[in-house]
Amino acid sequence: MGPMSLLRRLPPILRALLAQALGFAVLVGLARLGLRFSPFLWVLLQAVLAVFISRSLDLDPRWVFMQAALPFLVRALWGAPIPGWVYLGLFLGLALVFGGGLLNRVPLYHASEDAWAKLESLVPELPGTRFVDLGCGLGGPVAHLAKARPDGVFMGVEASPLTWLVAWLRCLPLPNAHIRLGSLWSTDLATFDVAYAFLSPVPMPALWAKALREMQPGTRFISHSFEVPGETPARVIPVKGREGSRLLVWDL
Ligand SMILES: C[S@@+](CC[C@H](N)C(=O)[O-])C[C@H]1O[C@@H](n2cnc3c(N)ncnc32)[C@H](O)[C@@H]1O
Repeated sequence: MGPMSLLRRLPPILRALLAQALGFAVLVGLARLGLRFSPFLWVLLQAVLAVFISRSLDLDPRWVFMQAALPFLVRALWGAPIPGWVYLGLFLGLALVFGGGLLNRVPLYHASEDAWAKLESLVPELPGTRFVDLGCGLGGPVAHLAKARPDGVFMGVEASPLTWLVAWLRCLPLPNAHIRLGSLWSTDLATFDVAYAFLSPVPMPALWAKALREMQPGTRFISHSFEVPGETPARVIPVKGREGSRLLVWDL
């Protein structure tokens, strides 16, 4: 596999940063050669290079548009009377809320209360049943299930620190709910009777392989809305929410 194919496999955010960095490196090279342009032309050149490199790295049109706009945005804000800590604060805030799902391309959005209720009907009515929400967001499903089923044990794992904190505080009064800060990829699924995830299409093949590897026969895997390519679920349960919201259920 050539270096370009390897680079194209990087998450889009890293490809976008790489495209801007390579574009900027070319500008630095041109400046060192003694070329002098107007500020507008430098910005335009950065935008053109970023677009060109982004397209070579297979970024989709929305990313390419943002790549073109970014140098102009930076130029417009350059010298604006905004203190540096505002940018740092915004960056940290976004990283603490969305950072956990960035590389998997999983944003933060929530299952509806209707989905919580339907999930409840999918948790076997056996005392001590263990359930895990992989990427538990603000902890809505875990808190609901822990209240509805005091005989079960409900775990959430969340990679974004601020999101984790909200879920942890929400579940603090519930003795049978536990929220862990960490990656779903380092969570051993072997001890769970039901594993549930509401992520994005990107991690589904790897998550399915993990579930098959680690979960015991007779346990249940549930995906909110996102299919596992090539794997037909045993049941599909429509739920309220965005168009096409549903629970896909596999009995392993
Ligand atoms: C779409 S939200 C789902 C929230 C909740 N499970 C629900 O059904 O309402 C997905 C969450 O997964 C988290 N996430 C993404 N990748 C993760 C990972 N590798 N490990 C743990 N959490 C992750 C994101 O930070 C986000 O909060």
